[in-house]
Amino acid sequence: MEARITTLPGDGISPEVVAEAVKVLHKVAEVYGHAFEFEEALVGGAAIDATGEPLPAETLTLCRGSDAVLLGAVGDPKYDNPLSPVRPEQGLLALRKGLEVFANLRPVKLYRQLLHASTIKPEVIADVDLLVVRELTGGIYFGERGRESTDGTLAAYDTMFYTVPEVERVVRLAFDLARRRRKKVTSVDKANVLESSRLWRETASRVAEDYPDVGFESMYVDIAAMRLVRYPCVFDVIVTGNMFGDILTDEASMIAGSMGMLPSGAIGAHKPGLFEPIHGSAPKYTGQNVVNPIATILSAAMLLRYSLELEDEAQAVEDAVEAVLAEGYRTKDIREEGTTLVGTREMGDLIAERIGQQ
Ligand code: IPM
Ligand code: MG
Repeated sequence: MEARITTLPGDGISPEVVAEAVKVLHKVAEVYGHAFEFEEALVGGAAIDATGEPLPAETLTLCRGSDAVLLGAVGDPKYDNPLSPVRPEQGLLALRKGLEVFANLRPVKLYRQLLHASTIKPEVIADVDLLVVRELTGGIYFGERGRESTDGTLAAYDTMFYTVPEVERVVRLAFDLARRRRKKVTSVDKANVLESSRLWRETASRVAEDYPDVGFESMYVDIAAMRLVRYPCVFDVIVTGNMFGDILTDEASMIAGSMGMLPSGAIGAHKPGLFEPIHGSAPKYTGQNVVNPIATILSAAMLLRYSLELEDEAQAVEDAVEAVLAEGYRTKDIREEGTTLVGTREMGDLIAERIGQQ
């Protein structure tokens, strides 16, 4: 197969982890006889530095013309000032919106070898295998926002806004995915308080009627947050809005041992999908060859699976990750006694070497 992949190295540590994922994709191409063409573009703080804009028009055009997009992370403390008129994160949000990738799949799987790396008790997380489907192009991230001043008091507001079709398409996708898994969907909202959540719940319940073979429940987000660390094994597919999904997946990453382990894939009705680790740009570790590239490598596996429909190749990458962990290699974030500490590049090399050897 021939495929054009746009890579967006982004900010902080993210060029380092994207390089390792590209290394792994090169190895996949070599072993399975594919021709992957990579082209790099700017987004986030790196793009602001070079062009003044967080998502230059050329970047979006290049992404739209490719088969898949692999992104690291964006974010640079230089632009953290709340009054900064332009921010790296705007580039990421504009990219998600521009590619219309409305569903962000965030699988949370615990590798057996990392059972003791998690801060949560092993017996609680032993059998976790869940998938969060986060709505990605709507909700409070994209609703009207602003500041206003009444009688000298400054105020600010953000709006959580959802249309029925926006909820329907992401919930439907969650049900379709659940059919290929353990057939259970939990829709997460805050319907006891928010009107947008009441509409979400009504719509999700209606979609559920089309899937009588799939179990369905609605849950408040506060309860879901508690259950994720108390009984995480009860979840199969969780579908939720943009902000709740953002928060719950950082929490869920601790089940997998580290933020450095959790991949994600954002898909929409058309190509290309956007694949990125859930973690941020971790600026303080930049250039030290210490961060974990596995979340980005597993995002590349999702890219193979969802955008290129190369299931065997995706599985080969996941098996290679598992093999390297089983051999005892660990980056700093998941290190335990009796394991071998390796850097970002070495972890990438080890995983790439094992592609096609399983
Ligand atoms: C994520 C990140 C982003 C988000 C930030 C960087 C804007 O936290 O992908 O989870 O909130 O969506
Ligand atoms: Mg987040």
